[in-house]
Amino acid sequence: MLIALASLKASPGVTTAALALAALWPGGQQVLVVEADPAGGDLAARFGMEPKPGLVSLSAAARREHRVQVAFEHAQQLPGGLSVIAAPAAAEQADGALELLTGDGLPLWSNLARDPEVVAVVDCGRLDAGSHAHRIIAAADIALLLARPTLEECDRLAKSLDALAIRAEATNTELGLVLAGPGFDRDQVQANMRMRVWAQLPHDRKAAALLGGATGKRRHLAALALPKAARSLGAELAAHHARADDAEPPAEDMPEAAKGPAPHRVRSAA
Ligand SMILES: Nc1ncnc2c1ncn2[C@@H]1O[C@H](COP(=O)(O)OP(=O)(O)OP(=O)(O)O)[C@@H](O)[C@H]1O
Ligand SMILES: [Mg+2]
Repeated sequence: MLIALASLKASPGVTTAALALAALWPGGQQVLVVEADPAGGDLAARFGMEPKPGLVSLSAAARREHRVQVAFEHAQQLPGGLSVIAAPAAAEQADGALELLTGDGLPLWSNLARDPEVVAVVDCGRLDAGSHAHRIIAAADIALLLARPTLEECDRLAKSLDALAIRAEATNTELGLVLAGPGFDRDQVQANMRMRVWAQLPHDRKAAALLGGATGKRRHLAALALPKAARSLGAELAAHHARADDAEPPAEDMPEAAKGPAPHRVRSAA
């Protein structure tokens, strides 16, 4: 399963949410976070990680090799054991790596999406019109846009969603919203958006700091508000994905003409 997270503007907490969702994932799959932010990564600095392995080394390997395990070979482990592929901090390097990973390395993303034993949570950063991350979103089962539930952010979302929905529909990627922090409540936003609002993540400075590499009592992390909300978002996403898979008729029962890529999978780059 491939879950893409992105923002439109204003750093609403995409990287933090990606880590929370992955760290608290409720299923038994292998979980991987990929920092695919064309503006450059933050994880290496936050966790004092070595530059290699990471997004750059993966981008070189994925030109020849698209197996899911290759992604894990280019991950490093955070305290607590979560596998993470960190982007270089410099935008030029991160964007260059993403260009390779969405060119020659493109099949890797569909392979991650298709693997039932794997959950890849991809931090696509801020989604500018020309971002290479659109091609990752095209391969995702679901793409969640994070935004603060403020007037400006909701207005931006409302005016941007149609274009994003057209792209997503073309590639069978489900698009959803996640609100981050206080403001309008979820029901108010949902009433004004034609897209499902999956969660409202609470403002939780303590959990965000721990998820951002601050030293502290990590064993209490799961009891904090943000991780709890991330865990229930993960449970809803997992259940939704299982229902979507169940709804697919087995390929052998399908007429030849109907066979093809499964719903919620993306077959071509947008
Ligand atoms: N739910 C939250 N509650 C409180 N603070 C948060 C929360 N989420 C993120 N933060 C804090 O906000 C800051 C930005 O978070 P983060 O790096 O996750 O945002 P981002 O959307 O990935 O930003 P960028 O677009 O720059 O990559 C960090 O200091 C982080 O600790
Ligand atoms: Mg970020």
